[in-house]
Amino acid sequence: MYPILKMPSETKILPHSTKSIKRCAELLGKDELVAVPTETVYGLAGNALSESAVRKIFQVKGRPLIDPLITHFRDAESAFEHVEASEPARRLAEAFWPGPLTLVLPKRATIPDLVTAGLDTAAVRVPAHPTLHALLQELPFPVAAPSANPFSYVSPTKPEHVEATLGPMIGAILDGGPSEHGLESTVLDLRDPAQPSILRAGPISEDDLLRKTGIVAQNTNLEHPCAAPQASPGLLSKHYSPHAPITILAHGTQVTRAVKQQYALILNCKPQGRAADNTFWLSEDGSLVDIARNFFDLIQRLDQAGYERLLIEAAPEEGIGIALNDRLKRAAS
Ligand code: TXA
Ligand code: MG
Repeated sequence: MYPILKMPSETKILPHSTKSIKRCAELLGKDELVAVPTETVYGLAGNALSESAVRKIFQVKGRPLIDPLITHFRDAESAFEHVEASEPARRLAEAFWPGPLTLVLPKRATIPDLVTAGLDTAAVRVPAHPTLHALLQELPFPVAAPSANPFSYVSPTKPEHVEATLGPMIGAILDGGPSEHGLESTVLDLRDPAQPSILRAGPISEDDLLRKTGIVAQNTNLEHPCAAPQASPGLLSKHYSPHAPITILAHGTQVTRAVKQQYALILNCKPQGRAADNTFWLSEDGSLVDIARNFFDLIQRLDQAGYERLLIEAAPEEGIGIALNDRLKRAAS
């Protein structure tokens, strides 16, 4: 079972300020864990170069040690001190960092094996969130950070989501507002620089990669989710799941019959006319950016409200909608 979501009486959420950033840097320097805002989702950060801090990340999340972590750096230059960067890797970093793209590259010995689950590659990224950037500037080390949710539960996009689940087990939660994208970074496997492949769909699509860098990426993993664990052990087919079971409705489904009171209906857009009390929507007008940004927040809220089942309309299969549909399938499995 997942922990029961209950708001503690004393908050660990620290507002963005120089003082909070100093406090978080101090905690991280003592191998404590801090939840940090990123432009994708909130991360559970610890000193990536300290085995003791990294071990705590796995313990607090309840995550198996075979599931490797992403290491976050303040800039590309620092990242490339710890992994071997091929020419395509440098081109991608130039085009997309800071931003929601994670690169899987051959690792150097400086990154502990615990971070990479014993693999000879490491996943690295330079996040774009200004609050996290300010924190990374204060630190003499990079941070390992998975999404700050209990293992296999929905990812957090607001500090309150972290507080309600992992709050009692961590040092602080640094508030950077709601996450801009609301879905995790695109993970690109560059082990073979001649054959980049998308391990996890995210805010940066195949089209974005091609348009900005001329790099053609395969996404075999999305077509065959069951093949994922070999390439990327963390991509389990059950993931991102609320307690309530999910039924996926095809994009554009017109729901004409009343939905049971105990079930919640979640649509992409605000419906026309008066909506039933158990009908919710992810955007006013179908904006894909809004649909993705609100997705994890809304399903966490409805899950906590005690609905017995969530009926969720899939997003259109384009741009970040591809990543959302991937999360939706895993959440439902
Ligand atoms: O947006 C994000 O990426 C967020 C924020 C906090 O940065 N982080 C995140 O971390 O989503 P996590 O741990 O929830 O997901 C990391 C993914 C997993 O699917 C894992 O298997 C994959 O990255 N990964 C990490 N290292 C890898 C490696 N060496 N080879 C292949 N996949 C790797
Ligand atoms: Mg995660």
